[in-house]
Amino acid sequence: MDPRARLLLLLLYGFVLCTGATIAELSYSIPEEMRPGSIVGNIAKDLAIEGRSLISRKARIDTVNEDVRYCDIDIKTGNFMIRERIDREELCGETVTCALKYELVLESPLELHRITVLVQDVNDNSPVFPKDHIKLEIRESADKGTRYRINEADDADIGQNAVKQYFLQNNPHFVLSVRENSDGSKSLELVLDKELDRETENDLSVVLTASDGGTPQRSGTVLVHVTVLDANDNAPVFGHEIYKASLPENSALGTVVIRVSAIDADDGINGEVTYDFSRIAEKAKKVFSIDNKTGEIVVIGSLDFESNFKYEMRVDAKDGYGLSSHCKVVIDISDVNDNSPVINIKSLSNAVAENVPPGTEVGIINVQDRDSEQNGQIHCSIQQKVPFKLVPSIPNYYSLTTTGKLDRELVSDYNITISATDEGSPPLSSSKTVHLSIADINDNPPVFEEKSYSAYVTENNKAGLTLCSVSARDPDWRQNGSVIYSLLATEVNGSPVSSFVSINGDTGIIHAVRSFDYENMRSFKVHVIARDNGSPPLSSNISVSVFVSDVNDNSPQILYPAPEGNSFMTELVPKAAHGGSVVSKVIAVDADSGQNAWLSYHIVKSTDQGLFTIGLHSGEIQTQRDILESDSMKQNLIVAVTDNGQPPRSATCSMYLILSDNLAEMPELKDISYEQKNSKLTSYLIIALVSVSTFFLTFIIIVLGVRFCRRRKPRLLFDGAVAIPSTYLPPNYSDVEGTGTLRSTYNYDAYLTTGSRTSDFKFVSSYNENTLPAEQTLRNSQSDFIDEFQDSFDPLEVGSFLHVKASY
Ligand SMILES: *[C@@H]1O[C@H](CO)[C@@H](O)[C@H](O)[C@H]1NC(C)=O
Ligand SMILES: *[C@@H]1O[C@H](CO)[C@@H](O)[C@H](O)[C@H]1NC(C)=O
Ligand SMILES: *[C@@H]1O[C@H](CO)[C@@H](O)[C@H](O)[C@H]1NC(C)=O
Repeated sequence: MDPRARLLLLLLYGFVLCTGATIAELSYSIPEEMRPGSIVGNIAKDLAIEGRSLISRKARIDTVNEDVRYCDIDIKTGNFMIRERIDREELCGETVTCALKYELVLESPLELHRITVLVQDVNDNSPVFPKDHIKLEIRESADKGTRYRINEADDADIGQNAVKQYFLQNNPHFVLSVRENSDGSKSLELVLDKELDRETENDLSVVLTASDGGTPQRSGTVLVHVTVLDANDNAPVFGHEIYKASLPENSALGTVVIRVSAIDADDGINGEVTYDFSRIAEKAKKVFSIDNKTGEIVVIGSLDFESNFKYEMRVDAKDGYGLSSHCKVVIDISDVNDNSPVINIKSLSNAVAENVPPGTEVGIINVQDRDSEQNGQIHCSIQQKVPFKLVPSIPNYYSLTTTGKLDRELVSDYNITISATDEGSPPLSSSKTVHLSIADINDNPPVFEEKSYSAYVTENNKAGLTLCSVSARDPDWRQNGSVIYSLLATEVNGSPVSSFVSINGDTGIIHAVRSFDYENMRSFKVHVIARDNGSPPLSSNISVSVFVSDVNDNSPQILYPAPEGNSFMTELVPKAAHGGSVVSKVIAVDADSGQNAWLSYHIVKSTDQGLFTIGLHSGEIQTQRDILESDSMKQNLIVAVTDNGQPPRSATCSMYLILSDNLAEMPELKDISYEQKNSKLTSYLIIALVSVSTFFLTFIIIVLGVRFCRRRKPRLLFDGAVAIPSTYLPPNYSDVEGTGTLRSTYNYDAYLTTGSRTSDFKFVSSYNENTLPAEQTLRNSQSDFIDEFQDSFDPLEVGSFLHVKASY
């Protein structure tokens, strides 16, 4: 069957709301009884929508108050087609305009189009008389012109297709009279045209034909059988032509709707009236029944305003001999607020990114209430304090939009309860909870728990020692919040920072990579970066100060007198020196700092106790009294220099003084030596010397005597001030190559004496602790033996010999 569908109107096209929802109205007209599958029209074409986008835009048809889905859309083709047989008579009864209403909903952007399908009547019903034959009993005395009511034929179709004409079979006695009533029905009467004569003809039959106005025409017939009697009757007569009643849809079963009543003037069986529905829709038959005797119409089924709000029926009243009349009953059903609003979530974002701007649409809500008027007016709202609101768009649709900034770190998901209330009394309401989760955005950099970090380490630490740990937090989700630590690649004293410390990327614990030397470096800074794993990653950095603290690991180093025995040195003290004269000075430095470098000087041994004193901190050697003739010419002092560390370290040196005004008076140098009873070396040597033959000893003394006499020239002339010849700087003084310890040179201010004439003397030097082991100083300077054997036994060689030995 080819559809006669045609597009009638395209109204309100492009009705654009702020949300972008459009609304248009399509109207199709179809005949009833179309085969399921027949195409009504192509929605896509009629709305000028691309056919393919129907699927992607989730096109669907929503029905308005309809139990059976008669039409639907084929979203592949855009065709709007019949799904169920449509019987206009069952659907709309006598209502002239029979329309099916649909809504086409499209998403993104949300569009709603109303579709109205007008169902046109088809002449598929023939006129039907209530009975297929009518018995009339007419007294022969009946006058010409007497009228006999005949029940009219009924045709379920409407308009042209309803009953149009009646024809009476040609006969000698009766003609047909058709009268139009005010309610549109017709009164049929047989009019006696020629008197009956029971004696000639006691019964006769005529055929009455009713035909409708459709094409092709349909008709129905009834046989009117007339029995000629001796008496005449009255038909029952109703009090009203139309009875009207109204009752609420929630009326209980058994409720009496209305009572119809007809009175028959006849007596006896002729006056007994019975009632019955003569023309009633199937739907109405299910919910109403009539009491045959009393004419009371009662409710026998449940009423529903939403599916049917008006019933029309015809009631016949018949007396015992079949004479009848009819009336019309109209029952209006009134709405009761018996349907709660229904909330439908039409679309909802799964997870909303926390950085969406306020006003972003995250879902579409549809509300429906089957009740009408006030009972179907819905108010939708969100009662909680959430950053979301409902924005009304097209009727009954709301957009769920954000009202403020979202922050997953504060609230990670929302349960939004949407409540809908109608305006009925009492109002009905319903609610629905929407779960919305917020998706993470990497919007928080890691934050260190402290503003800055400091680590304290004592020098000479082990490599691998834990210095401190840093910690940063990032409240973002998963990899956006996982923190990795690393060191900023900087340089410390020209070396990469990684050669000093390392950091555990996961825990933030900082380890020393090497042993630190306070004398080389007192503090340094490293920068730690905390970076999250987001993309792009966010980071922050912080500085960690590492402070190295001093340990007393350096002994005082004596610069003057020269510790090495390579140049034998004496101080000349004029005999005229008075008590309190400064005659010499011991100069020492200590590479440590603070207390560890606070030096004090003591004379531990002297030839003549009481002649010389030494300044506790200045190291200046003074005479305590005037020098007497009786004082020994050769004076030896052993001075100990001690630092103030815990435990203290010390060094000693020997100082040789000659009390003389005249170099010629200089005694044999061998006598200058100080007999150190405690010196083990000396003891051993003495034992060795004793054990060697006297001859050998005498020989050596003679040889030495000769040698000393030859080189009897003082190297340093001393006039009371202290001068330090550059030759007395420590050997290997600036030579740091090849020692294998510290490559970098380290400058420092030597700690010198105070309160002397040389206190402002600054000794800026480069220092290597390996150059001058304290023990070696002591040993070399104290050794008479080496002095006395210096010609045959070079002390430099002894030094390097000792050095080699120390390194074993
Ligand atoms: C939302 O509801 C779910 C399930 O009822 C529950 O597990 C969750 O904790 C709720 N969330 C909030 C933020 O209340
Ligand atoms: C991390 O943040 C990015 C955007 O910055 C986002 O695309 C990603 O989904 C987030 N990861 C997780 C696990 O939430
Ligand atoms: C370290 O942080 C400061 C601000 O705190 C920033 O200006 C600098 O660029 C950061 N440096 C690195 C290497 O990330």
